[in-house]
Amino acid sequence: MHFDTGLRTVFGQPSVTERPNPAETVEEGELSEAERDLAGRLMRVNHAGEVAAQGLYEGQSLTARLPEVREKMERAALEENDHLAWCEQRCEELGTHTSYFSPAWYMGSVAIGALAGIAGDKWSLGFVAETEYQVVRHLEEHLEHIAEQDTKSRAILDQMREDEGQHATTALKAGGASLPKPVRDLMQLTSKVMTRTAYYI
Ligand SMILES: [Fe+2]
Ligand SMILES: [Fe+2]
Repeated sequence: MHFDTGLRTVFGQPSVTERPNPAETVEEGELSEAERDLAGRLMRVNHAGEVAAQGLYEGQSLTARLPEVREKMERAALEENDHLAWCEQRCEELGTHTSYFSPAWYMGSVAIGALAGIAGDKWSLGFVAETEYQVVRHLEEHLEHIAEQDTKSRAILDQMREDEGQHATTALKAGGASLPKPVRDLMQLTSKVMTRTAYYI
């Protein structure tokens, strides 16, 4: 079952929530070649991040001890699937591909998520919260760089930013601990490798 989830995340159609794509009702803005190229790259980075998020949630659910933890985070995991689908669609519209390394991002994240799960639920939830905070910061940075008139990309990123903030709150409320600085730094470094690579390939 876990293997199937992985395959669907990386290659297929993962199950999503009932929410429509926030870009659906927004009109396509007029973008220059350079603006379109940059937006495509950043949406690819975001897509890779969402693939990794799926891996983390999946890895954690393999080793999480408390069933309630799993349940509480289930909605969040489903929303990550929304993000994944929205980013993928936007990459397509912008005429670019998703990262060729998606399977690697996924598998690496499953391993990291499983480790976090082994460390215990309070750490694993703390890990989710920290990941989500880092994603929020990334999204804010992207919103600064994506063209104002690229309303479709912006609609997606706005909704994602809101969701990720919620996920962090949910994880903390479920008992997540705040992580030591060296761990946070290591997480930042790891995500840098992924985001830098996905920007290009
Ligand atoms: Fe997400
Ligand atoms: Fe999230």
